[in-house]
Amino acid sequence: MGFKSNSSTIIGFFLLLCLISPIAGQSQIPPKQDGFWFGEKTGTAETVLIEAFFDPVCPDTRDSWPSLKKALHQYGSRVSLVVHTFPLPYHDNAFISSRALHIVNKLNTSATYDLLEAFFKHQERFYRKATFNMSRAAVLDQTVKFVTEAVGSSYHSAIKSGFNDSKTDHATRVAFKYGCLRGVYGTPFFFVNGFPLPDAGSALDYKGWRKVIDPLVSERGVNEEETRHFF
Ligand SMILES: *[C@@H]1O[C@H](CO)[C@@H](O)[C@H](O)[C@H]1NC(C)=O
Ligand SMILES: *[C@@H]1O[C@H](CO)[C@@H](O)[C@H](O)[C@H]1NC(C)=O
Ligand SMILES: *[C@@H]1O[C@H](CO)[C@@H](O)[C@H](O)[C@H]1NC(C)=O
Repeated sequence: MGFKSNSSTIIGFFLLLCLISPIAGQSQIPPKQDGFWFGEKTGTAETVLIEAFFDPVCPDTRDSWPSLKKALHQYGSRVSLVVHTFPLPYHDNAFISSRALHIVNKLNTSATYDLLEAFFKHQERFYRKATFNMSRAAVLDQTVKFVTEAVGSSYHSAIKSGFNDSKTDHATRVAFKYGCLRGVYGTPFFFVNGFPLPDAGSALDYKGWRKVIDPLVSERGVNEEETRHFF
């Protein structure tokens, strides 16, 4: 009897902790906004803002990128993009590859999208089947090598120690939590000017992007000159 009441007290205590910690987590506001800005610019009130939640080892995320990139070049300075990592729990190595992006972003912001594209290009190396028989240490080793190849050998030791730095783990968690707070439940997941696009979790083709963005930029009344400049 005594044991029973003791254990239920303990269980109750842990339940309480689990319930409290998400609330406590939300109050831990990060000092800097999450996300990787595309190009040199950050969003302003003058641009159409696309927020993308990407899992670097998600095939649908990969497939969504070429058309979005094409649209970004088309619209130039009228549209800005920020990418947030959102590692899906059912994709093996989603967290480690997301963390790699946070590590590289800290080392050289401009190299972040190079690495993202490298993950897209060689995604299958990180799939469950390819890494099924590998230890976690071996996967980490492979990832460090892969990232080094993508961004340059001079970064090798910095990348390696980046994976041993709890700050980069934390940054990757913050990005995930941010997605949760925004109601993200799959990838790719897009917001345009803060509003979610329908068909979350599937790629939008170039025509689809034009259909979304064209009316927004024309309402803003920006002339055609800028468009031509980017071709
Ligand atoms: C940062 O990355 C960019 C893009 O890959 C590259 O051109 C540049 O040389 C890198 N900067 C340094 C300091 O390594
Ligand atoms: C993992 O290793 C076992 C034993 O060597 C092998 O039978 C199996 O096919 C391997 N699985 C994958 C997915 O490579
Ligand atoms: C990770 O960092 C700790 C100190 O913070 C150090 O003791 C340990 O050797 C490092 N591990 C690796 C694999 O670099």
